[in-house]
Amino acid sequence: MTIDLAALPDDFLWGTATAAYQIEGAVTEDGRSPSIWDTFSHTPGKVANGDTGDIACDHYHRWREDIGLMRQLGANAYRLSVAWPRVVPGGDGPVNPKGLAFYDELIDGLLAAGITPSVTLYHWDLPQALQDRGGWPERETAEHFAAYASVVAERLGDRVHHWTTLNEPLCSAWIGHLEGTMAPGWTDLTAAVRASYHLLLGHGLAAQAIRAAAPGARVGIVNNLSTVHPATGRPQDLRAARRMDGHTNRWWLDPVHGRGFPADMREVYGVELPEKPGDLETIAAPLDWLGLNYYFPQTVADDPNGPAPYVRSVRRDGVPRTGMDWEIDASGIETLLLRLTDEYGARKLYVTENGSAYPDVVRPDGTVHDPERQDYLTRHLAACASAARKGAPLAGYFAWSLLDNFEWAYGYDKRFGLVHVDYRTQTRTIKGSGHRYAEIIRAHRGRERYAA
Ligand code: FCB
Repeated sequence: MTIDLAALPDDFLWGTATAAYQIEGAVTEDGRSPSIWDTFSHTPGKVANGDTGDIACDHYHRWREDIGLMRQLGANAYRLSVAWPRVVPGGDGPVNPKGLAFYDELIDGLLAAGITPSVTLYHWDLPQALQDRGGWPERETAEHFAAYASVVAERLGDRVHHWTTLNEPLCSAWIGHLEGTMAPGWTDLTAAVRASYHLLLGHGLAAQAIRAAAPGARVGIVNNLSTVHPATGRPQDLRAARRMDGHTNRWWLDPVHGRGFPADMREVYGVELPEKPGDLETIAAPLDWLGLNYYFPQTVADDPNGPAPYVRSVRRDGVPRTGMDWEIDASGIETLLLRLTDEYGARKLYVTENGSAYPDVVRPDGTVHDPERQDYLTRHLAACASAARKGAPLAGYFAWSLLDNFEWAYGYDKRFGLVHVDYRTQTRTIKGSGHRYAEIIRAHRGRERYAA
């Protein structure tokens, strides 16, 4: 397999991605307050093995070592998230200087290592204090989010230029409030739709706040999108696929591109949106770039008796899958990058997450052999380069993830890292896929061909 590296710009960002709750640990240190994920993970039965983010990868204390790993990979960028409950522990109100100081030092450390930071303001860790006041279904949460965004941008904006408001609002709204398998664990369509609305409103308000605090900031939003295929050619399955596309893709893309919330999906949900004059304009604040998180394609059939959007996933037999049981289809990332380019006129795109989990082990010789992940990485990068060759303005790729980490409801069972973490000793070991990534990055820098 070859990767058309010449299709990628010289200043391409080669990065890895993480999120605060998944790696930091130190959940009670230096004034951090609980987030909805602390509450959720400490609720029996919610997370595999009763795992929590209490210690995670202990990155809060080991971040210098982790920057060293990025350097070993040859990465020139890093996507991290800031924990709202460290910076504004009450959700609104007083700022915690120690929380800000942590990120301040981390950013300086990255810059000193020649690594461009890309900062996400919300990767799912809502301060529990705001959840207690209603959380994302309430409008005031969007307003508090913008105030927190302003605090962070004011402090870091002299050095950080890449800003993400929200990571995968789909998961916060649909998985957190409708399916209930992520924090806060609700199963309430009205709350989910209201949450989706206020998340996007929060995005728009935060975009304004970041730009006001840090002129020159380049602001984007990160969505996890999927290609959607109908299970059969029956008209009801074709309509189901259209609904799933609305639920997964269009609901999140249309409003930020000034097209409003898709009318067909408003009808499917049948929930009144908490609209106020001017909101749609706020939500459609101009974007400097769009982030795509891509993992798997979806195949769906009509399911009139299921919950909205009345589809069920159909398992296709005989297709390769990762350790998450997610179908592998690298062509999906190319399709989506081109769709964002052609249908939404994206001016700049980043793949902000892409990766795979497998049950890795450290072998007696101290190495981690992960040929499937190497293959997944190479195939998806080849598809990204192909999209770039066809005109997608792709400016960077962030592998999920730098480290094995707390994989939400799956706990520590699922390992996505390019670097293995032994959670007993916190020993880090670069996996075969990490070495593969380093080789690819080197080849791009050296303007060489890459074939695996
Ligand atoms: C994405 C999340 C990220 C990680 C990967 C596997 O949905 O943004 O935190 O859990 O999935």
